[in-house]
Amino acid sequence: MKAFILSDPGAADMLQLSDVEKPMIQPDQVLVQIKAISINPVDAKSRAGKGVYGRLKEIKPLILGWDISGIVSEVGTEVTDFKVGDEVFGMVNFPGHGRAYAEYVAAPASHLALKPDNISHEEAAAATLAALTAYQGLVQQAKVQAGQKVLIHAAAGGVGHFAVQIAKHLGAHVTGTSSAANKDLVLKLGADAHIDYRSVKFEEVVNDLDFVLETIGGDQIDRSLEVVKKGGTMISIPSGLSEQITEKAKAKDINGFFFLVQSSGEDMKIIAEWLEKGILKAHLSKTYSFEQMFEAHKHVETGRTVGKVVVVL
Ligand SMILES: NC(=O)c1ccc[n+]([C@@H]2O[C@H](COP(=O)([O-])OP(=O)(O)OC[C@H]3O[C@@H](n4cnc5c(N)ncnc54)[C@H](OP(=O)(O)O)[C@@H]3O)[C@@H](O)[C@H]2O)c1
Repeated sequence: MKAFILSDPGAADMLQLSDVEKPMIQPDQVLVQIKAISINPVDAKSRAGKGVYGRLKEIKPLILGWDISGIVSEVGTEVTDFKVGDEVFGMVNFPGHGRAYAEYVAAPASHLALKPDNISHEEAAAATLAALTAYQGLVQQAKVQAGQKVLIHAAAGGVGHFAVQIAKHLGAHVTGTSSAANKDLVLKLGADAHIDYRSVKFEEVVNDLDFVLETIGGDQIDRSLEVVKKGGTMISIPSGLSEQITEKAKAKDINGFFFLVQSSGEDMKIIAEWLEKGILKAHLSKTYSFEQMFEAHKHVETGRTVGKVVVVL
């Protein structure tokens, strides 16, 4: 089968289209014929030797990619949830070896859910790592409640555009940040208010928030702490909090932390239900062919993705 191999970390052209053996499945796995793959900042970071590359670097051949939608073509002997022909989607083995930049992937059945019939493979693939991060962050980690005041940074991005929709579904009052060009999208996703971060300092217009999803890093982590109320929560997802920021959050009685999204078929089932009911919708920035993986990575690396970038097979 065709797959993109990463022999050494580096620029996007380090991804080499190669012929490799179709994977063999374990008893708890299914073989999925991939129809669509979504590309995240962590794909590009890991390809460049950052992100989760450290966990994967000993693996040969290293095949990046975690976010898939496709069709089950083989079922392991212990798998009871899926059968051959089922359309499934999910985030495979994150933060481990996903092997999803390929025509087929051997995926633990426990990382997948059935794809709703009323959405495409492209939309389904888009609603995996980014949607799981928003779901696990807002629902499981921060436990956002109805009536709470929430700020979502990079509300037009992969995680942010799902986070706005989920926060709204939970009944929160949602403010989203983006450039002016993406204001209409952020409001259409359900945000009650919008901040153009290029012309307004968010800390001058919001305060006393119950929850902030911090997606940018750098000094924005510290600035975000300033707008969370005592007892509130700030999750920063790019790369973790310094000891200094962790101490500062503690002193202000704010629950400030980093978390890393984890594969979960149970969580994917909830996302599938929300996609089916129209509570959640993936916004596709651009779709590339499998052979255009290089361009898809370059797109994600701009940091300007609106919604998700997807590769189709
Ligand atoms: N810890 C975890 O488990 C986890 C999971 C997923 C993602 N992440 C990390 O979280 C970060 C965000 O991921 P993502 O997939 O959402 O990224 P993304 O899709 O690449 O985000 C792109 C968006 O960021 C916006 N943006 C850029 N600078 C901004 C700023 N200063 N203020 C507000 N918006 C800004 C852009 O909007 P404009 O063009 O309008 O500026 C664009 O729409 C990445 O660092 C990623 O690696 C971590």
